[in-house]
Amino acid sequence: MKLPRSSKLLIATHNSGKLDEFKTLFAPFGLNLVSAGELGLPEPEETGTTFIQNARIKAHAAASASGLVALSDDSGLCVDALDGNPGVYTADWAGVPRDFNKAMQKVEDELRAIGATTPDQRRASFNATLCLAAPDGTDMIFEGIVEGQLVWPPIGDLGFGYDPVFKPDGYEKTFGQMSAKAKHSWAPEKPGLSHRARAFAQLVEVCCDI
Ligand code: IMP
Repeated sequence: MKLPRSSKLLIATHNSGKLDEFKTLFAPFGLNLVSAGELGLPEPEETGTTFIQNARIKAHAAASASGLVALSDDSGLCVDALDGNPGVYTADWAGVPRDFNKAMQKVEDELRAIGATTPDQRRASFNATLCLAAPDGTDMIFEGIVEGQLVWPPIGDLGFGYDPVFKPDGYEKTFGQMSAKAKHSWAPEKPGLSHRARAFAQLVEVCCDI
């Protein structure tokens, strides 16, 4: 599937943090981005048990409702000492309405409950699975992971979600202290830093003309 300049691409999300990141990432490619939120499309229920399943549910729902090529992102935080949780339930840990201070506190409480205090015991990764789906039912999947450690208390007020507690390996700052540009560290033919940028780097290699 190709995404030529000026073509319309539906970003299948109602999450403004993800949408802003895709706007930053796609800026050099001259696409015409619209979001599921802006079009008032319903949010499908994420009934999958893997990032791929949920990414497919979101992208295909948006593509068939709009008749446009749609890109979804299913992502989450996987904490080693918590057996990979919250994983696909990362957004759910923030409750309804979403409160990510509460969600970060819940992760911290669970780590403390098992005595995970050293950096080695606080290993985690952010995972992003992108699904690019066409209205005819075909799709492509791209996955990105960034490893790091969880810090407490949260530091920084940039980004969204769990960014203030995640310090990527090799950096002294949390994602919450990085601009979107620094968090992604993406440039043509570079792998990028964030999970989303790393998945995006694979997508543009296959689908976009720089
Ligand atoms: P979902 O993909 O809609 O299931 O939601 C994934 C959840 O993971 C989001 O609501 C965020 O809380 C969290 N998340 C995903 N990517 C990031 C990120 O880049 N920074 C911080 N939190 C993230």
